[in-house]
Amino acid sequence: MLRRVYLDNNATTPVLPEVLEAMRPYFSEHFGNASSIHHHGQQTRAAVERARESVAKLLGCRASEIVFTSGGTESDNLAIFGMVKTGDHVITSTVEHHAVLNACKHLATTGCEVTFVPVDGRGLVDPEDVKRAIRPNTKLITVMFANNETGVLQSVAEIGKIAAEAGVCFHTDAVQAAGKIAINVSEIGCHSLTISSHKLHGPQGVGALYVRKGTQLEPMLYGGSHERSRRAGTENVPGIIGLGRAAELASAGLQNGENLKMAAARDQLERELLAIEATGLNGEGATRVPNTTNIYFDGIEGEALVIALDLKGLAVSTGAACSSGAIEPSHVLTAMGQSHDRAKASIRFSLGKQNTIEDVEFALGVIPETVARLRELSPVWKKASSSGLRAPSSQSVV
Ligand SMILES: Cc1ncc(COP(=O)(O)O)c(C=O)c1O
Repeated sequence: MLRRVYLDNNATTPVLPEVLEAMRPYFSEHFGNASSIHHHGQQTRAAVERARESVAKLLGCRASEIVFTSGGTESDNLAIFGMVKTGDHVITSTVEHHAVLNACKHLATTGCEVTFVPVDGRGLVDPEDVKRAIRPNTKLITVMFANNETGVLQSVAEIGKIAAEAGVCFHTDAVQAAGKIAINVSEIGCHSLTISSHKLHGPQGVGALYVRKGTQLEPMLYGGSHERSRRAGTENVPGIIGLGRAAELASAGLQNGENLKMAAARDQLERELLAIEATGLNGEGATRVPNTTNIYFDGIEGEALVIALDLKGLAVSTGAACSSGAIEPSHVLTAMGQSHDRAKASIRFSLGKQNTIEDVEFALGVIPETVARLRELSPVWKKASSSGLRAPSSQSVV
């Protein structure tokens, strides 16, 4: 049987066995509606509130500041549409996930003004650019914590400080940071922060939005008074229980140094891949989450490499799962100044808690030969080789 190694944990992570165990009773014995006042309802209500405590602990906030949602996309949309109204100005960055980017683009069609601040070659927003973009009608700054394609971490605490000085709300999408690095909402100074369960070994289709006490937030859904009237609809109880357990395991992992072990495995992968000729790191020079590396292989079509590696049992990706199959190169890499060809030649490798050093060795066993074989088939690569123009790893040949 083909051995399969999964290094696409920024797309989604496998549910940990402990998480599945915690969820299981809430599909059957403990089936009550958490809003019911009888025994069955009270049992699930208590479990939902325990999960809320666990998520709050992961983020360093009060349980009452956590709103459960259907995932990262809904949390980002709730923060943005919940805080901004017609006539307001919003500041965001060019490298946001589409959950934020497209929400902001939509705002721009509904009588709001949006400024998209650029990033430098490392993928970093300059907080001074954010400060300069503030206008009298600026209502919200939304800048992500960790980028899903490169793992690059933004200076969110600095941006939070700028927002506070200007009296502007600050939202951050921490979907790719949660569970990978320590998060404390007070240190960031944000009014709201998004997490998604399936990126931290919880189930898909559930997430949370931290909303700082006293923040004005209009609901997006109208219905019952669930989630303190901020998110109507019967709770996804098994999902919430799974997110709560995943948050506990993430907190424990951060305390016992699991992230350092992951960084060491990622660094080994990265080091050895960068030893292949004409490769380079996207996000070089920036601080990144410990599980992600994004590397370009000049002369290669990223999608072709993903498919060739999949046939050998290795799952990786060219970037965001929701952009797979896109003709256009990654908006993140092009915003960082990468050429069209180099952005298309880039692959994201992202580790999870389940990965071992043997998984990294397996990847290192199949990637170099696959890259070499694809380059042999690449007219661009052949032309560069025959003309003696093959570039060192820091320059493009295409
Ligand atoms: C940075 C970021 N924000 C938001 C999302 C959307 O989260 P969800 O899949 O839970 O809707 C993702 C998912 O890839 C993400 O990486």
